[in-house]
Amino acid sequence: MRVIVCKDYNEMSEKAFEVMKDVITKNPKAVLGLATGSSPEGLYKCMVRDHEENGTSYQDITTYNLDEYVGLPKNHPESYYTFMHKNLFDHIDIKEENTHLPSGSTQEEADAYEKQWDAVTCDLQLLGIGRNGHIGFNEPGTPFAQTTHIVDLTPSTIEANSRFFDHDINKVPKQAISMGIGSILKAKKILLVASGAEKADAVKAMIEGPATESCPASALQKHDDVVVVLDQAAAAGLDR
Ligand code: F6R
Repeated sequence: MRVIVCKDYNEMSEKAFEVMKDVITKNPKAVLGLATGSSPEGLYKCMVRDHEENGTSYQDITTYNLDEYVGLPKNHPESYYTFMHKNLFDHIDIKEENTHLPSGSTQEEADAYEKQWDAVTCDLQLLGIGRNGHIGFNEPGTPFAQTTHIVDLTPSTIEANSRFFDHDINKVPKQAISMGIGSILKAKKILLVASGAEKADAVKAMIEGPATESCPASALQKHDDVVVVLDQAAAAGLDR
């Protein structure tokens, strides 16, 4: 893993953008795996700014998102569909038909998404990391070979995500449809961004701990092209 430590969230976003920009410049038809959440928002802002100022085009880019809540209508303000449109898709020239998010509540629907994913080669998979080391919605204990699946969210993830649902855990969906760790590892390159002290333990376990199902992100040690971009607070626990 290549680890880049930045002074703050903005620098982390700019560094991550450099990695992203390199991939889309080399291949304007790149397939990107995308994530939602606070971690990639700054990177998406950099992509939008670059599109507006430099005309970088996404016309031939295809995207696949990692996950979506089960049971929220597409146009719900907190759906990942809405997040992606609000933060990225509505501000660049990507074609709606080239954007993909998993949807549904059954394993058949999850398998159908994995089949679409298998039909392409992802050039860059973007990830955040949960406080418990989750990637996508792959919570601790998820087998590393797992493909797209329906997940029961853990209490810690429900609590963390309640900030988007009026801090009311009862409003947070209890399940999600998520690419698995096995799906994520199929990408050619992986870019993980993390900021803030609350991520420091998970970051340390991902990079310096053993590759174990109790820290899903530690599976990335098994991939040979991973770039991790951190701010100082998220990197604070590292032995370096
Ligand atoms: C989002 C996702 C999650 C988040 C993680 C961190 O698509 O798959 O794994 O990356 O929960 O979330 P933030 O960035 O909000 O701290």
